[in-house]
Amino acid sequence: MSQSLVTMSYIVATILFIFSLSGLSNQETARRGNYYGMLGMAIAIIATALSASVTSYVVLIIALLIGGAIGAKAALKVEMTQMPELVAIMHSLVGMAAVLVGYANFMDSSLSLSGVEKNIHEVEIYIGILIGAVTFSGSVIAFGKLSERISGKPLLLPGRHWLNLGLLVAAIFLGRLFLQQAETGGGTFPLLLMTVIALAFGIHMVMAIGGADMPVVVSMLNSYSGWAAAATGFMLNNDLLIVTGALVGSSGAILSYIMCRAMNRNFISVIAGGFGTGSGGEAAVVEGEVQPIDADETAQLLLAAKNIVIIPGYGMAVAQAQHTVNEITKLLRDKGKKVGFGIHPVAGRMPGHMNVLLAEAKVPYDIVYEMDEINEDWAHVDVSIVIGANDIVNPSALDDPNSPIAGMPVLECWKGETTIVLKRSMASGYAGVGNPLFVLENTRMLFGDANATMQAVLKALKG
Ligand code: TAP
Repeated sequence: MSQSLVTMSYIVATILFIFSLSGLSNQETARRGNYYGMLGMAIAIIATALSASVTSYVVLIIALLIGGAIGAKAALKVEMTQMPELVAIMHSLVGMAAVLVGYANFMDSSLSLSGVEKNIHEVEIYIGILIGAVTFSGSVIAFGKLSERISGKPLLLPGRHWLNLGLLVAAIFLGRLFLQQAETGGGTFPLLLMTVIALAFGIHMVMAIGGADMPVVVSMLNSYSGWAAAATGFMLNNDLLIVTGALVGSSGAILSYIMCRAMNRNFISVIAGGFGTGSGGEAAVVEGEVQPIDADETAQLLLAAKNIVIIPGYGMAVAQAQHTVNEITKLLRDKGKKVGFGIHPVAGRMPGHMNVLLAEAKVPYDIVYEMDEINEDWAHVDVSIVIGANDIVNPSALDDPNSPIAGMPVLECWKGETTIVLKRSMASGYAGVGNPLFVLENTRMLFGDANATMQAVLKALKG
């Protein structure tokens, strides 16, 4: 394929990626956005495969087959609840690719650059490996934390901020050394040492972050993986990779900002770590009587209510209760009830987790509200049903300054007339914090797997 045709294809792919991102920003256009992205990626892969930069089709086909098979197997096997882990481990691969491409470029003796061009290329290699190594090790730790292979508790080393600062200064110093030594064909030692430091920094950064800040970490690593891809693009002289990396990097950064705002946190304190961990003063212990309820009584309450709000959380994803919830919603709406869904920005385990589940179950978009929209209206709500949610409806985030999640906005369902909470036990949620909602006067607990209890409620409603 001629170079101009490759460039044309890259421009078309870039435009499709931009359409894709804009489509993904809205539930109704998200599916279309995905198609644009798939088409853009197909064009990008075909154009790159047919370009002059490919020297061995055998190696390319073998790599595509291995990568494609692993990707297809993972996508077919992964449960919806494991998506965040899959995303985290995918980010680590982008980081690893940047490191490997950086070293391959460093060792490539066929490049005959000189003067400023050579210096720029060396800076690209150094920065590419640095970002790639931080992304790689940080994402592996995030994968471990999200899949509960590593404890969600933060590792708070004494003097950790000084340690981070020291690592940063060392990376800058080694960068200078690398550029000096590379002039005379050396530089391997500072490059290797910086890689070890960057790996250690990635591990330390994510290890220090508390459970409740993991949503921000997921989107932050998403952003890093974009910058790592852009750095790879610079090293490979591939414009499409630079643009795509920049799109992912900047959209991930915007998402991190939105997440921080949703949790009332600032980015620096997220990186500094420790939120959602019990650090600070003594959080109040939850005391009081729990008032259990059964499926028939729940159905009675729903039939007597006019205005109902459903709050889905991570447990709905675990129980795969969204289809039953949709059936109940349809039935109640057919009986003339007003039913709405209240979505917390960090409900579940990944951005938009609940929206994806509700869309899959075909819940109409126009009855799905964001937290800010619904938090004004609780005085008019007769019954709210909390399905497998915990942290996102925890009043202590607002009332208890010593709570590890103090300051995080939550869905204030207790301000409605009655709240019914569906969960299997009194266990805490992701942030590991006790929840006083469960013992409030106007709360009823419907214990059991959310899908089983929702099925029982549906049966009682029909009966
Ligand atoms: P959580 O606070 O984690 O609570 C989920 C609850 O679901 C648990 O208390 C659990 O209680 C219940 N549950 C689990 N399986 C269930 C089943 N089969 N049936 C019924 N209930 C079940 O979830 P949330 O309220 O959605 O809050 C999200 C949390 O995850 C926040 O702390 C957030 O910071 C964090 N987080 C979010 C993200 C993103 S981007 N959304 C990423 C990482 C972390 P039982 O065990 O008693 O059933």
